[in-house]
Order: sequence, then structure tokens, then C-alpha cells
Amino acid sequence: MTTARKGTVYLVGAGPGDPELLTLKAADLLATADVVLHDDLVPQAILDRAGTQTRVVSVGKRCGSRRITQEQIHALMIMEARRGSSVVRLKSGDPLIFGRAGEELDALEKAEIPCEIVSGVTSMFAAAAAARKSLTDRRSASKVILTTAHHASNSSGTDRPSFWRGPLPNDATLGIYMPGRDLRALAWDMLQGGMPPELPCVVMSQVSLPGEDRRTTTLGGLGDVVPGPAPLLVLAGWPLADRPEASFPEFAQTEFAQTAARME
Ligand SMILES: C[S@@+](CC[C@H](N)C(=O)[O-])C[C@H]1O[C@@H](n2cnc3c(N)ncnc32)[C@H](O)[C@@H]1O
Repeated sequence: MTTARKGTVYLVGAGPGDPELLTLKAADLLATADVVLHDDLVPQAILDRAGTQTRVVSVGKRCGSRRITQEQIHALMIMEARRGSSVVRLKSGDPLIFGRAGEELDALEKAEIPCEIVSGVTSMFAAAAAARKSLTDRRSASKVILTTAHHASNSSGTDRPSFWRGPLPNDATLGIYMPGRDLRALAWDMLQGGMPPELPCVVMSQVSLPGEDRRTTTLGGLGDVVPGPAPLLVLAGWPLADRPEASFPEFAQTEFAQTAARME
């Protein structure tokens, strides 16, 4: 059993939402920390695992509404650690994936605060499990790409930056975090980048939570999907097809075989 140490900050992954997907270490730290600073996406069922003496504080930014700045979060972590508290900085999924962990680690290092990182299940991996698809099905994929459409979805109009440039390698599975609700714009970016309209896609909503929802489509149909409630994640790639070995197009098979041969 791990006990949270005084004066230390733990960057902890809460996983996608199901409390049973917490690591044992995360659960121990939650139960023994003096203070938990958590993001919006961490559900109450996980926060309920905090100790009875633990102060649980939301530092979520609510989809960019900036109730609290990133610098204020740094200051809070440092202040709590300096006054001798054990601090769990709790983030959804894995703390090192799209979670501002780089900035937080820099701030803690600069302030000479001891820090540990506890991995969590990132939502892309939980989404694959929910869809019962192997992200690296060896019949059609040998790469996984984690990306975000965050900047694109926060903008509008003709100036909207594309979240994706250039073609997707045929043997890659793509996980798009923070895709926004305008899936038409997302699909447009992907098609403009050269991805084929037949590319299988899955739109996952609230993975591992009671409201989990899954919409299976192709890139050509992605724009017509009305997604379930946030948080949303989009998976795209040939392993997501009903029969990956059958739908993997011939041109992609050739390229994939060449890559595999080079690797042998
Ligand atoms: C700020 S990022 C944090 C990612 C997180 N660190 C991870 O590893 O999953 C938030 C995005 O993660 C994805 N996400 C997190 N939890 C999710 C869930 N339960 N279902 C679907 N997507 C989720 C969504 O794309 C959401 O907009």
C-alpha cells in the first residue's frame, strides 16, 4: 500500500471514469493525501474514494471558461506542498496525455517540490476496449497516433486552423482527443488531408461511464453523426472495420506488407 508523502505532489491519472479502472496506487494516494486538486472530467464516483480527512478541490477549467488559470494551479500545488501537505493532482485518463503535465512538472521542478507521476488508463485505450477493437491489429495497423482537434474546434469561420495536415499513414490508428461537437468540420479536415472516405471511424462518448455511447461510421459519414454527450473521442483507422482483414484496401495492404518486410 502506498501512502502519500507530506510535501510531495503526485500527478495521478484517474483513468477514463470508471472507478474500477483506477490503479491500486492511484486509489491508495487518493485515500491518504491531504489534498486532491482535480480536473472537471474526474467523476464524483472517483472523488468519493478520497480519504475522510482529504480536502477535495476542483481546479477544472470547464471547457476553456478559465475559472482558474494554469498559473494559479501551479501556485496552489506549490503552496500546499510547501506548507507540508501531501498533494494529489488528479487528471482524467493518463496525466501525461493532453493534460498540461509538462507545464506542471516544470513549475514543480523550478520550485524544488518533489513530484511523482502515476500513470492512468488513457481514454483512447479505454475507447478501443469499449469498441472491442485492437488498435494495433497486425492485419492492418502497426502505428497508433494520439492527436487533438482542440485548437481547431475552439475556432470558427474560414480562419479555422485545420487540426490535421497531410495523409494518415495507412497502417496507423488515430485517436482524436477533444474533437469538438462539429464532426462535419473534423471530417472535412481529415478528407482534405487525404484520408479516404471509406476509412472506418468510431465516435465514442463517455467511455466507461454509465452513459457510454458508440457510433460506428466511415469518414464519409462522420459529418452526419450526432454525437452523444461529452466527453467525446474519435477513433479512425482500418482496424476499426467490422472485418479489418477484409476491408483493408489493396493499396494499403501493399504499403503495409512493405513496411512489415522492412521491419523483419
Ligand atoms: C484534456 S483531455 C485529457 C485526456 C486524458 N488525459 C486522457 O488520457 O484520456 C480531455 C479529452 O479526453 C477525452 N476523454 C477523457 N475522458 C473521456 C471519456 N470517458 N470518454 C471519452 N473521451 C474522454 C475527450 O476527448 C476529452 O475532451
